Amino acid sequence: MTKKDILIIGGGGREHAIAWKLKQGESVGKLYCIPGNAGIAEIAECRPDIRATDFDGILNFLREHRNIYMTVVAPDDPLALGLVNVLTENGFRAFGPTKEAAILESSKVFSKNFMKKYGIPTAEFETFSAPADALNYIKAVKFPRVVKADGLALGKGVLICETLSDAEGAVRGIMADRRFGKAGDNIVIEEFLRGYEVSILAFCDGATVVPMVSSQDHKRALDGDKGDNTGGMGAFAPSVKFDKTLLPRIMRDIIAPTVRGMDKEGRPFKGVLYFGLMIDGDDVKVLEYNARFGDPETQSVLPLLRGDLLDIFDKIIDGKLADAKIEWEDKTCLCVMLASGGYPKDYETGKPIAVGGPDNDILLFHSGTRRGVDGALLTAGGRVLGVTAVADNLNAARAKAYANVGRISFDKMHYRKDI
Ligand code: AMP
Ligand code: GLY
Repeated sequence: MTKKDILIIGGGGREHAIAWKLKQGESVGKLYCIPGNAGIAEIAECRPDIRATDFDGILNFLREHRNIYMTVVAPDDPLALGLVNVLTENGFRAFGPTKEAAILESSKVFSKNFMKKYGIPTAEFETFSAPADALNYIKAVKFPRVVKADGLALGKGVLICETLSDAEGAVRGIMADRRFGKAGDNIVIEEFLRGYEVSILAFCDGATVVPMVSSQDHKRALDGDKGDNTGGMGAFAPSVKFDKTLLPRIMRDIIAPTVRGMDKEGRPFKGVLYFGLMIDGDDVKVLEYNARFGDPETQSVLPLLRGDLLDIFDKIIDGKLADAKIEWEDKTCLCVMLASGGYPKDYETGKPIAVGGPDNDILLFHSGTRRGVDGALLTAGGRVLGVTAVADNLNAARAKAYANVGRISFDKMHYRKDI
């Protein structure tokens, strides 16, 4: 069998998990990653000098490496900017949604109006393009309310407002002070939902859609869901709270109508579609869509996938997902994120990381790391390492992960103790 070389775009823990999983496939040859990180560099040739949004740099790299069979685009920014479109137009095989389909994530105004049009349950909302209208509207609403910037804002564009004055501050911050730049030209103001959150990621080829095991992210920085929203401080799969008997209804009322609706809109979705759900008893609503694998959900989901990830990616690109065999281990996987002190606000990088022999069966997915000139492992981001363990149940996975967290340290290391 000729082995297939793959290029992965991105440089975080999610991309490390994707690279690690792809590498297990029998047909996978050499891996490349742009920009990658120090962990990914152990299994892939990385190009830290090319950014994930440098389309010309990526095209040039592919022209110099004609052996590359497929490019997997993982992060939100290059997807929203149309990297998959550009690669395909230039004759390269690319995995991920087009820009037209990725709009489900890159515009909350689009996604909310889309859900309304197709009867997909979501929080009641209004959209605004003028701050005066938004300020006027909030005078008459009940609190809490949620104010959201329309565009991509590193997961920070969602503000939960307890009072009118919080909401006024949020509207001014996003629309007048332009805290998130162009992402705040338009906003969504919506009802606050109660319940628990579950992430359902799904493989989708534009017509067929296959959900992965459920997962549970921990978005707040501090124990007990306190502190600021982050990119995610840890995750496990499957979610313990999630009642699996809800899945057929979620398929019927949310997942299938989303895929059919996008096709009807002329924006067929091929890739991984992420449903952020809020569940309150029998009531399930969509909080958000992402047009990609979640981070750190992916680190807790992919270790449970049996079989060949490249085969699934191939079948998605070719519209043959219905033929794919997608099976899951009946186990639990838990990932604890080690972060830089201060994250998600200001933090320092370049701290040496001491890793004292993690157990052999621990997966150490690197999020923000690099090698120093002397080869030392250094911190290079807000989220640094995801210590990941697979076990028969949640308690065992948790115990195993935290036993290994204790063997890793760097200056001002911070992590949640309650994943
Ligand atoms: P989003 O990027 O839209 O998922 O929002 C980020 C986080 O904010 C979600 O994961 C929720 O924890 C919270 N959130 C967003 N919208 C709402 C809502 N309508 N009600 C309650 N919490 C929300
Ligand atoms: N963990 C949430 C996200 O990937 O957006």
